Amino acid sequence: MPRAIRIQEPGGPEQLELADIAVPEPGPGEVRLRQAACGVNFIDCYHRSGLYPLPQLPHGIGVEACGVVEAVGSGVRDVVEGDRVAYAAPPPGAYAEARVVPADRLIPVPDEISDPVAGGTTLRGLTAWLLLHRAFRVRRGHTLLVHAAAGGVGQILCQWADYLGATVIGTVGDSDKAQVAAEHGCHHPVVYTRDDFREKVEAITGGRGVDVAYDSVGAATFEASLDCLRPRGLMVSYGNASGAPPAIEPGLLGRKGSLFLTRPVLFDYVADRQDLLEGAAAYYDAVIQGVVEPRVGRSYPLEGAAQAHRDLEARATTGASVLELGRG
Ligand SMILES: NC(=O)c1ccc[n+]([C@@H]2O[C@H](COP(=O)([O-])OP(=O)(O)OC[C@H]3O[C@@H](n4cnc5c(N)ncnc54)[C@H](OP(=O)(O)O)[C@@H]3O)[C@@H](O)[C@H]2O)c1
Repeated sequence: MPRAIRIQEPGGPEQLELADIAVPEPGPGEVRLRQAACGVNFIDCYHRSGLYPLPQLPHGIGVEACGVVEAVGSGVRDVVEGDRVAYAAPPPGAYAEARVVPADRLIPVPDEISDPVAGGTTLRGLTAWLLLHRAFRVRRGHTLLVHAAAGGVGQILCQWADYLGATVIGTVGDSDKAQVAAEHGCHHPVVYTRDDFREKVEAITGGRGVDVAYDSVGAATFEASLDCLRPRGLMVSYGNASGAPPAIEPGLLGRKGSLFLTRPVLFDYVADRQDLLEGAAAYYDAVIQGVVEPRVGRSYPLEGAAQAHRDLEARATTGASVLELGRG
């Protein structure tokens, strides 16, 4: 029987339990996948902890994986048995050796993209695509602030932004991460556990401020990120690694220079299948061309899911974390 990670109730990493599961035949519009690798993303911690409640319990965890199509339900046209595919989509349940998923969420994986990269970085790559090409259109000459620049999304974001000609100021938790960020497209790493990143941004931009602030850290950085923006700059709040950001009143955006604020969610940007395929093709192409070199920082067997969550939440990782499903 295939194995999967389930939670019985919200809580800490200890809630992630290994279980044998029965995987049904795919229904109409569905396929059954034999999975090779799945990504460990911060959103999985939000699902596990209850910050983003799951529809019912017990429930699977994980929203990203790659694998091979094993069986196809009625009405499925775009994929056939044996195809290598990836997905980055709810419902959670990706930490599993096999599962049934909706066919319209599947992305064809080029041969040049390995299982750990397809299974563990597609969601992060799509996120970087939406941040750089949809929420804002980054061009040569823009200056960006990227928090957690050595992290999974952060590394991809910085490399891609560098390629687009932007200047990247990135925050990191320690000096080893500063080195990692500098090697992955970040021009000005700032150790924000030691230095005030507002002051650094002011000095680096000559007092002008950045065009866009990409803030995935949330509670700990949100307000200071607003202070880093130039007048009419864009604040992109896209994550809660340190907790949810505070509620703000619109007048604050006015007082800080007629700022814009957006809170993008990847799944809304790729709800349309054409957008999903466009974003995935842009990301995989960037990887194949060497524009982005996605780094799998840590890889675990399926039963290492709890340790993977502990490491991610303890800020102990750089790059992407992946569960490799053949490794049990
Ligand atoms: N909106 C969307 O659709 C979307 C999609 C994908 C990801 N995201 C968000 O993007 C972010 C990055 O995701 P990821 O999976 O690639 O994770 P990650 O960036 O690899 O890991 C999170 C990083 O956040 C930093 N951090 C700062 N304060 C923290 C705290 N109190 N606890 C834990 N980490 C803290 C740490 O880096 P330092 O030590 O360098 O500070 C940590 O390594 C997450 O916030 C995630 O929710 C959003």
